[in-house]
This record gives sequence, C-alpha cells and structure tokens, in this order.
Amino acid sequence: MTLLTVSSTNHSFTNISKISTKTLVQMNDVWASYDSKNYVLREITLSIDNGVNYAIVGQSGSGKSTLLKLMNGMMKPSKGQVKINYQTPDTHDKKFKPLMAKIGYIPQSLGLIKNLTVIDNVLIGALPRIGKLKSFFKMFPENEIKEAEKILKLVGLEDKFERKAYMLSGGEKRRVAIARALIQKPELLLADEIVSELDHVTAREIMNLVADAQRTFNLTAVMVHHNMQLALEYANRVAVIKEGQKILEIGVEGDRIVDFQTGNMTQKEIIELYNQ
Ligand SMILES: Nc1ncnc2c1ncn2[C@@H]1O[C@H](COP(=O)(O)OP(=O)(O)OP(=O)(O)O)[C@@H](O)[C@H]1O
Ligand SMILES: [Mg+2]
Repeated sequence: MTLLTVSSTNHSFTNISKISTKTLVQMNDVWASYDSKNYVLREITLSIDNGVNYAIVGQSGSGKSTLLKLMNGMMKPSKGQVKINYQTPDTHDKKFKPLMAKIGYIPQSLGLIKNLTVIDNVLIGALPRIGKLKSFFKMFPENEIKEAEKILKLVGLEDKFERKAYMLSGGEKRRVAIARALIQKPELLLADEIVSELDHVTAREIMNLVADAQRTFNLTAVMVHHNMQLALEYANRVAVIKEGQKILEIGVEGDRIVDFQTGNMTQKEIIELYNQ
C-alpha cells in the first residue's frame, strides 16, 4: 500500500512554513448549519500559519466546502469564531471589504464566465480595484490588463488570452481560475477541489503552479482535496473531515508524517479511518 507515501522530491513546502509563524486563519469551536437545525460542521478548531499549504480532505458531504465558505465569509458560523488575520470575514458587510479583497476564493465550480475570454475572466479578479462605472463598461485600465497578461503567462496561458472560457480544457480552466484569484493579490488562497477530476500529470502541474505562486507571493493556501496522496505530497498539514468533524490533523515534514491530533496512530490506522 503506497497511499501514505510522502514524496520529498516535489516542491519544498517545508521551507514555506518557516517564513512566519503568525496565525492567518483561526477557528475556535465552530459549528455551522444551513437550516439552524442540523449542524453540518461541529466543534471545528484549527489554526493555519502564514505561508503554509493546508489541505482539507474528506468524503463527499463531509463539510469541506462549507469550511471554506466560513473562511471566506460567505457563511457565518452558528457557534464559535472564525478569524482571518484576527478579523471576522463577512462578504455581506462593507466594513470587511479590505479583508475580503485579500482572500482569493476558487469555488468548486470554478465560477468562470463561459462566454467571456480568458483575459476578461482574469480581470474580474481586479474588479474590486476598479470603479463600478468603469467595470460596468469593462474599461479596464492599461496597468490591470498588463498585470492580467503577466499572470496568464505565469500560469502558462500566454497563447490563450482571447479564447472563450468554454473552449478551454479542464486543466486550462483551473489555470484561469488561479490567475483570477492571483490578480487579486490575495494573502489567502482558498481552493475547493481544483485538481479533482484531473489526470495525475495535470493535477500535479496545477499543484506545482500553486506552489510556485505560494513562493512568489508568500501566499497561504487552503486547499480541499479528494485525494489523500496528493494532499500529503503538497501540504504542510492535512485535516481530515468526517461527517462534519475534524477527526484527524496530520503535520507533514519532508517525508515524515508527524503530529497526529488523535494520538499515536499508524499509517494503516489512518487509511482505515479515512476509508470508512
Ligand atoms: N446550500 C446548502 N443548503 C443546505 N445544505 C447544504 C448546502 N450546501 C451543502 N449542504 C449540506 O451540507 C453538508 C456538507 O456539504 P459540503 O458541500 O460542505 O460537503 P463537501 O465535503 O464539500 O462535499 P463534496 O466533496 O461533495 O463537495 C452536506 O450534507 C450538504 O448536503
Ligand atoms: Mg465540496
């Protein structure tokens, strides 16, 4: 069984965690519900340091996307506290607009506008910096267009600026969504299963891209995955969510797995727990 083999040949994320020890994301005993009756997340306590890659893994319906929605302020906890950079995220409150601008969110559906070109999709990420009138008429300033082109080159789409989003492959769409998040100049990137459904090679290309972006922009990344192996290869920490609860948190250091939240467990036990 090679499921829990951690590759140390990939990106050296271990260096990133040493940049700073400041906590960027803090959740204290968070409970969440969509109907005020049933809790889809319970007792979630976690802490994410600046610069790390934090993976969230769990089965379908376990609450992973809900966890990201709490971090980006789309959803409020029923109980408990969510703090991003010591502030409460809230997309509905204008007071938190400067904070929200620092959070780059890539939803599970990617949220691309299929009839817009690649570059216009990316420029959507710059809208908070552009006046409402200008953005309505799509009058993007020259410096923003240049910035979008630069980022598209970074993500390897220099030859696809004018292509409509619906004419892209799955991997290319993910690159556009990453570019749209990066143009925001975020401090925190929240990515919801952006490599699921991709073949192994493309999934790693996209993960390497995020790793490069983390190094270049000193980004903190919280990434939801279906694939435990991929999470372990790229993340500094992996949280496993099951039926709304964090049942395990694993620290990854080089090729070692450390810091089991629930005590000393063998790799076999983790696999069994995860596969339940
Ligand atoms: N808008 C909503 N209204 C009501 N219930 C919801 C809503 N969104 C999610 N849920 C429920 O909350 C629970 C957690 O959903 P969530 O989308 O967070 O799971 P997930 O782990 O991201 O799943 P997947 O891997 O399938 O994306 C599920 O039981 C789901 O049915
Ligand atoms: Mg989800």
